[in-house]
Amino acid sequence: MRVLVTGGAGFMGSHAVDRLLDQGHEVTAADSLIGGFVENVNPAAEFVECDLADREAAADLVASAAPEVIFHFAADATEGRSQFTPLSSMDNNMVGYLNTLVPAIDRRLSKMVLVSSMSVYGAQQPPFRETMPRLPEDVYAAMKASMEAATEHLSAVHGFDYSIFRPHNVYGERQNLADPYRNVVAIFINSLLRGRAIHIYGDGEQRRAYSYIGDTNPVMVDGGLSDRSNGRIFNVGSSEDVSINQLADVVRDVFFDGGPWPAGLEPKYMPGRPLEVKKAFCAHDAAEQVLGFRNTTTLRKGVEAMVRWAREVGPREPAYLPNSLEIGGEHAPATWREQLI
Ligand SMILES: NC(=O)c1ccc[n+]([C@@H]2O[C@H](COP(=O)([O-])OP(=O)(O)OC[C@H]3O[C@@H](n4cnc5c(N)ncnc54)[C@H](O)[C@@H]3O)[C@@H](O)[C@H]2O)c1
Repeated sequence: MRVLVTGGAGFMGSHAVDRLLDQGHEVTAADSLIGGFVENVNPAAEFVECDLADREAAADLVASAAPEVIFHFAADATEGRSQFTPLSSMDNNMVGYLNTLVPAIDRRLSKMVLVSSMSVYGAQQPPFRETMPRLPEDVYAAMKASMEAATEHLSAVHGFDYSIFRPHNVYGERQNLADPYRNVVAIFINSLLRGRAIHIYGDGEQRRAYSYIGDTNPVMVDGGLSDRSNGRIFNVGSSEDVSINQLADVVRDVFFDGGPWPAGLEPKYMPGRPLEVKKAFCAHDAAEQVLGFRNTTTLRKGVEAMVRWAREVGPREPAYLPNSLEIGGEHAPATWREQLI
């Protein structure tokens, strides 16, 4: 089958490209490289550098790739930063998505697999279930919620199949170690590789379930291609919710072979971040029952695998936005304003 993977040079998208190629599909990976790396893309895929926020470029991409199925991973996926870069969030999420979907519908797309996010549940009581309403609490979540809704409406009228996946807190090999704005596991590991203390926002009791890429990728690719997922939404990820403090302990344990924090590397506590939801984790019954999803990797095992990989590739200099935030001011975390990470 001809498959287009947007965001195919990114963390999750590049793993999807690998799996699709292993299954014998003809894969085009498209990416603007604002958050991805060409080195992530399997050479057996065709790679197209393309900014989907550019309407003409997205239409050209769809015309040349002529996909039967699209896996849409492309995003400015920085939830916490989206309050300070809302224009980037709109362009790279909502606009880029519609620029891809609209010409694809016109060319008789068979199926859209939209990668959304747990953020659409907002601050409801976890564990989040797919039957709960979309109640976004921040700009990124509002974009993802709109992308989901647009998919449902356009499918109802134009008749293409779709499925929506809501992964959460995914980590693992190829995650962007240089991103100082998102992905706490990668930020912690990169800070320690650079010999710097980690920063924890608030009291560190925020709870999340960190999900290993080796668990989430197969269910999203195989489930996305399966008719069983048509017209449905699936949470995917780990069910093992932990606090940031507990996550820091696991990373310390793996990094320092069970020893304590070395002197000077003890975590530094910072003020909480605006609009950060305190507890966010999901139930996965739908993915388990319909798609046979199983989590098999413990947090400890997943962190071990990621630390091994990160030590191989080495530390990265944090890549702050070249032109700073769209809206700066005193509400942005000091770690970003003062580039402390
Ligand atoms: N990693 C997680 O924990 C997580 C959790 C929930 C949802 N998601 C979603 O999964 C998807 C993949 O996330 P990821 O963690 O791999 O992030 P990522 O940043 O590694 O991948 C996203 C890719 O999209 C590309 N991109 C951004 N804007 C683009 C544009 N306008 N045109 C073309 N390419 C563009 C980036 O260059 C990047 O390579 C995203 O949609 C994200 O919102 C991720």
